[in-house]
Amino acid sequence: MNFAVLASGHGGNLQAIIKAVRNEKIQADLKVVISDKKDAYALKRAHRAKIPAVYINPKDFSNRESFDREIVAQLRKFKIDFVVLAGYMRLLSGFFLRQYPDKILNIHPSLLPAFKGLHGIKDAFEYGVRLTGPTVHFVIDEVDSGMIILQEAVRVQSQDTLETLEKKIHQAEHRVYPKAIDLFARGKLKIVGRKVIVG
Ligand code: GRF
Repeated sequence: MNFAVLASGHGGNLQAIIKAVRNEKIQADLKVVISDKKDAYALKRAHRAKIPAVYINPKDFSNRESFDREIVAQLRKFKIDFVVLAGYMRLLSGFFLRQYPDKILNIHPSLLPAFKGLHGIKDAFEYGVRLTGPTVHFVIDEVDSGMIILQEAVRVQSQDTLETLEKKIHQAEHRVYPKAIDLFARGKLKIVGRKVIVG
């Protein structure tokens, strides 16, 4: 199976994915990294790993769908079977979703359905939860609402600051995302209604 990573930022998850592919912990080929941000550090990481890194400027397109049509054209060019979002900060159009039904994965830094949105770590921390952690899920047309593949609980200790909690959650993300991607790539995930059966 061939996959692509879409990333807008730092690319910490991308780095963990690159490492897992190299160590054969993910049995699939990462063929291309695509970004909507020219200076995304994720693109540098891809470049360093000798993986094709493609920047597509959203300003060159009049709307979300025409931008996504260009992304999908790139995905086709690289014969991509499934797509992994890793800190990709754009909503996908219906067009994109229809091209890869149940074949787009995302990671969110809270235990969904709690703390959806852009500030999952901070919102959970400020709420005072004792447990939080990343969720890997399929992407559907509603944000942060797709079928859940894997979650990893992270305990919030009294001495945690937002910064120490962020670090722990990112470490958990880098464990759980490669695992979920590998399960998907090996055909181990079956969607039954809202649920994902593993095995
Ligand atoms: C992660 O916290 C992820 O859960 C969220 O965006 C962040 C991306 O970080 N969707 P990175 O670019 O992978 O370092």
